[in-house]
Amino acid sequence: MKTETHVERLRARLLGKAGTERPDAQASALRAVSTRVKPGPEHYDFAQFPELREYTSTRWYYDKQGYEWNMFREHVGVASAEAEVAGRRVINFSSYNYLDLAGDPRVQEAARKAIDDFGTSTGSGRIIMGEIPIFAEFEREVADVLGVEDAVLGVSGYGTNVATIGYLARRQDLILYDELVHNSMLTGAKLSGARRFAFAHNDYDALERLLVEHRGHFERVLILTEGVFSMDGDIPDIHRLIEIKKRHHALLMVDEAHSMGVIGARGLGVVDHFGLNGADIDIHYASMSKAFATIGGYVAGRKELITMLKYYAPGLGLYIASPMPANAAAGLAALRIMRAEPGRARRAVDNAAHFRTRAREAGLSTGLSDGSAVVPVMLADAELALWMSARLFDNNVFAFPMIFPVVPRDAARLRFFINTAHTREQIDRTIRLLVELKAAAPASKGLF
Ligand SMILES: Cc1ncc(COP(=O)(O)O)c(C=O)c1O
Repeated sequence: MKTETHVERLRARLLGKAGTERPDAQASALRAVSTRVKPGPEHYDFAQFPELREYTSTRWYYDKQGYEWNMFREHVGVASAEAEVAGRRVINFSSYNYLDLAGDPRVQEAARKAIDDFGTSTGSGRIIMGEIPIFAEFEREVADVLGVEDAVLGVSGYGTNVATIGYLARRQDLILYDELVHNSMLTGAKLSGARRFAFAHNDYDALERLLVEHRGHFERVLILTEGVFSMDGDIPDIHRLIEIKKRHHALLMVDEAHSMGVIGARGLGVVDHFGLNGADIDIHYASMSKAFATIGGYVAGRKELITMLKYYAPGLGLYIASPMPANAAAGLAALRIMRAEPGRARRAVDNAAHFRTRAREAGLSTGLSDGSAVVPVMLADAELALWMSARLFDNNVFAFPMIFPVVPRDAARLRFFINTAHTREQIDRTIRLLVELKAAAPASKGLF
């Protein structure tokens, strides 16, 4: 007698008795689409995918304008206030290295030691055989800094946001997000299948209206915001968000990629800046590629939340290899320096304040930026942003243009990440150049 294999049992569960698809809504929707499509090369030849046109038209524009291609530029050495990019020594405003720790000998030594002790990979997921003491030490210290019970370290910043939101929210849940939250939060929200509504940037009345109208129709409600907004450099009113989320029995998640290690009297993020009780934020998140000078992401909060994420969240605890020992060790060393040397964060924030003051005195708009180390210089359109960035680079200053789709079409800008190692002279020289270049800029041709 033939015995059924586990693959056959699985297939039988997925298919109806007669071996056809179950007539669920998704399957019939898929069939309906497929009957109308006549496959052409645009469906199987990558060279004909419309997405590629975004790239080819951008390249065409650069060629036409005679700009050097500015993407994937190689640098050598450590990128901080200065860097060597494409063979040029530049004043660098395009690295997230807020605390100048990526080249710090203590951080580098910790990473080296982790490689000596554990190799370059744990070779396994944490649950199975990938656990090393550094992960738990990092998690304990992050939880301690934030005043919460526990934390979990993930391999990637982007992935940790996606995995956390994708895991916690379900079809019967609602996600309300500030319209300017990072793409990794949006991707997690889409993946979750929950109902999603954006509220206008920092518009707490709009958030309140959405809650009044919709709260009653959903089980879990997640409110997503950032500690410092990555494109605009402003800080939301976290006290107000906490008050709102408590009143509506919602959960608040704050992305501290650009606030942890930077804002607050001790540089320890929104908890420090607003004098919060850590437990008032349900889900603390940060990417480790900024002040932590490494790569990865963490989530911190109540121990029950962390247990679920560690054991069951795909892409965070489950179905993913452990972080690299050297990355976690670098992050832990950076965290310890962050705590011991709060002057680093203060200098970054003071340098940024100096940049904003000088820029505004010179008639440049720094948009919403306030209190953080992210400073945009707003420009009329994408063409001007690209032209200004190219000319700055010719003058040994590296600030990357931010244009659609990463910002709205009418909100092109140059974005400056200010760090603790920038000097006032570097900042003043950059502002002078910006003013001169802006005055000399050609009129836009409406090409972009
Ligand atoms: C606000 C914010 N969240 C999340 C991320 C993702 O972090 P990572 O790039 O380290 O994966 C970024 C990265 O730029 C970010 O700016």
